[in-house]
Amino acid sequence: MIEDLESILVTEQEISERVAVLGKEISDGYAGVDELTVIAIINGALLFTADLIRHIDLPVRIDCMRVSSYRDETEPVQIPEIIDMLRLDLEGQHVLIIDDILDTGHTCERVVKEIGKLKPASVRFAALLEKEGRREVPVKPDFVGFQIPDQFVVGYGLDFAERYRQLPCIGVLRAECQNPPSWV
Ligand code: IMP
Ligand code: MG
Repeated sequence: MIEDLESILVTEQEISERVAVLGKEISDGYAGVDELTVIAIINGALLFTADLIRHIDLPVRIDCMRVSSYRDETEPVQIPEIIDMLRLDLEGQHVLIIDDILDTGHTCERVVKEIGKLKPASVRFAALLEKEGRREVPVKPDFVGFQIPDQFVVGYGLDFAERYRQLPCIGVLRAECQNPPSWV
């Protein structure tokens, strides 16, 4: 599987060090808050969220939202669809949305808007990765792990057609692996 990567952009070691620091930044950013509600955008944010919350030094509630912006291809569809909504009541709560990558910004914009309707006390957005030069809407993450160039990446939760999420590092997927023939 690792041989399907043409290069590694972020190693397992770099991820674990940065996630620990991010956890501290988030804990400091919410100093004085009694409880934080973390919303993981699944499936991409699964691994990142699992690691990150273990470095957040305040009580955390967790919920998930499933948003689809891809149709098993490497170009996003324009309007992200919310496929699974939350179970928790967010009224008066401090909410931190966690996603794997901020690319065009459509997912972030859509999710922040939907969550805003539920009357939370605050909403912030954390992304493991931020792709440079790709924003189509003016959204800014409050917490970011790494800036990466405009290349299609997989690993540590990021997928191509639900594959490669389990890779411990983040790397650029070889072009020939991005559209496998249907008989594979
Ligand atoms: P946005 O709505 O364009 O910001 O895209 C956000 C979503 O697109 C992320 O949550 C990812 O699921 C997906 N995405 C964007 N770029 C990549 C990539 O390079 N690899 C895998 N998924 C990506
Ligand atoms: Mg995804």
